[in-house]
Amino acid sequence: MKSYQFGVDYYPEHWPRERWAIDAQMMKDMGIQIVRLAEFSWQKFEPREGEFHFEELDEAIAVLAAQGIDVILGTPTAAPPKWIIDRNPEIQPTDWKGQQRFFGSRHHDCQSNPAYREHIRRYVTAFAAHYAKNPAVVGWQVDNELGNSHGDLCYCDHCRDRFQAWLKEKYGAIDALNRAWGTAFWSQGYDDFTSIPAPRFPAAWGLNPSHELDWRRFTSDLVCEFHRFQADILRAAAPDKFITHNLMGFSPKPSYYELGEQLDFASHDQYPGGHFHARHDEYRADFHAAELDFIRAVKQQPFWIMEQQSGITGWEILGRAPKPGQIPLWAMQSVAHGADTIVFFRWRSCAMGTEQYWHGILPHNGIPGRYHAEISAMMKQYAPLLKEMAGAMPGAEVAILRSYDQERAIGIQPHHPDHRYIQHLLTYYKALHRANIPVDFVGETHDWSKYKVLIAPLQFLMTEAHLDKLRAYVEKGGRLVVTWRSGIKDDSNLCHTDGPVPVRFNALTGVNLLEYDCLRDCAGAVRWEGVEYKCAHWCDVLHATTAEPVAAYAHEFYAGTPAITRNRYGQGECWYVGTTMGDALADRFIAEICREAEVAPLMPTPHGVEAVHRKKDGRTWLFLLNHNETPQQADLPAGYAPWDGAPWTGELAPLGVRVFVKG
Ligand code: GLA
Ligand code: GLA
Repeated sequence: MKSYQFGVDYYPEHWPRERWAIDAQMMKDMGIQIVRLAEFSWQKFEPREGEFHFEELDEAIAVLAAQGIDVILGTPTAAPPKWIIDRNPEIQPTDWKGQQRFFGSRHHDCQSNPAYREHIRRYVTAFAAHYAKNPAVVGWQVDNELGNSHGDLCYCDHCRDRFQAWLKEKYGAIDALNRAWGTAFWSQGYDDFTSIPAPRFPAAWGLNPSHELDWRRFTSDLVCEFHRFQADILRAAAPDKFITHNLMGFSPKPSYYELGEQLDFASHDQYPGGHFHARHDEYRADFHAAELDFIRAVKQQPFWIMEQQSGITGWEILGRAPKPGQIPLWAMQSVAHGADTIVFFRWRSCAMGTEQYWHGILPHNGIPGRYHAEISAMMKQYAPLLKEMAGAMPGAEVAILRSYDQERAIGIQPHHPDHRYIQHLLTYYKALHRANIPVDFVGETHDWSKYKVLIAPLQFLMTEAHLDKLRAYVEKGGRLVVTWRSGIKDDSNLCHTDGPVPVRFNALTGVNLLEYDCLRDCAGAVRWEGVEYKCAHWCDVLHATTAEPVAAYAHEFYAGTPAITRNRYGQGECWYVGTTMGDALADRFIAEICREAEVAPLMPTPHGVEAVHRKKDGRTWLFLLNHNETPQQADLPAGYAPWDGAPWTGELAPLGVRVFVKG
């Protein structure tokens, strides 16, 4: 595959034809090599059923190709046109209250609807055939941000029917489902798969958690199948073109591990200064780093950014303006964490529609300003770096297990009102990030053997096969961290009853649970070698059998009992954490376990300065990213030289980036 370093998302249909050549020339002058087009323009290309008009898109592609710019085409199924909705209004999705949602923005579609599938088949087949032989079109994106806008969609009769078929395939006989779901509770037994509802808004609070869990699994599978439906058509027509998708970080629906199997590489949309977050004064670089590190896990490879923030963003309400230097800093953060290609969103701020204030590289008037100047300079400076570094990975020795299934189950029963699966993982991630220790995310099916430390929080649903894999990891010398709410449930969300909690984990963890406490409206405390730290949400009251107590609670009737333990097992060790650690406790914990595992931090840095590296063929590139608006000092580890040859004074500029190389 040809390599690309920088690109942009472009909507020529929003601008007069006369402007296209100017845009293409300006893009080329900046260093843009690839452009994504067409992912929302179905109505333009098929104004009436079966009547295709790709002339305008052909022309736009030709104008870009004349400047040597290649193209990714999106299938426009995130915005079906009104004539389709008029013909088949049932395509519009139904929310969990049974209320149909209507045309007027985008994603007004049900992904299981058979009529919609036929419209898609017709369009995508024609689209793929038309562009299969166009050499400027090098890849496809199916739909846009699948899972976005579908949070509580769709619960229509078609989705229910597909769910019933999915359950029949899974359980075979209705009695097996009744057992697996525990339908003896509240008289929920079913006679037949055809009587099982989608888990809609119930009369009284409290849906069956087993029913809900299977629904969440089903909807993930449905989105993946929706993608495959289109990807199969595109691949058959044009096997030489790549397929990618613009994923959304930690978004929970669908499973990106599974969607990723259909992709040549993963892409991600990165808006660090987005208007979604209310607290603009909060430090969030660690969260954005975590999302990037997670996207690298999807294919366990470097990835693309398909939409990288290029200006101030907002819809009805705006976020803060990116400060001078911040847009290049954010783009380089993506690069540092594994992006090989950065595509900026969008070329020019749109004069029409909902996203008028989601600004692009150019302002509404098209005259280059500060964003353009900063992005141009960054692209010129770093294009050679991205080229030489393509394919480089961090070679992390610590991994965090991110499980969609555990997240679904914890999402259904958070236990504590402030407890969130991803936030819990982030207590560990952020401590590693503060220490500048490279970290990978992994899924259940990945190979864990290369990691010295595997942090696997909240192993709530536990099957024998998964437990065997965890045991084998420790037996062979791994250091495993598990936490409260592990070994609680079976795969269908029923509680294990065949032993003390953590059920079946007792030999591995060396602890039994006597009872537990939910820290509602209060904080807890943990004492570790005389120092007291904060903890939150939950406390397992532990009895150590073979484990060695590491730290103890310092509050409540269980003060003095173990909060954190470690247990030798085979060649390795299993640590158990009975609570949610505050930052200071997490820092201590990570320092301790990494020291013992001989995992070294890259270097110490002041707060808000990231040190991140990528490695390839014996070379290491080290990035220092200063997210502070003040200059910061850092001591470079031995052996590194400035990548660009510019002198290193030991000081990073405010919102500044420096890259060093070794080997
Ligand atoms: C009420 C109900 C019970 C049970 C408990 C606990 O007391 O009568 O059926 O639901 O609450 O939720
Ligand atoms: C997402 C979408 C884009 C656009 C931007 C800005 O990332 O993929 O189509 O809507 O948000 O809102």
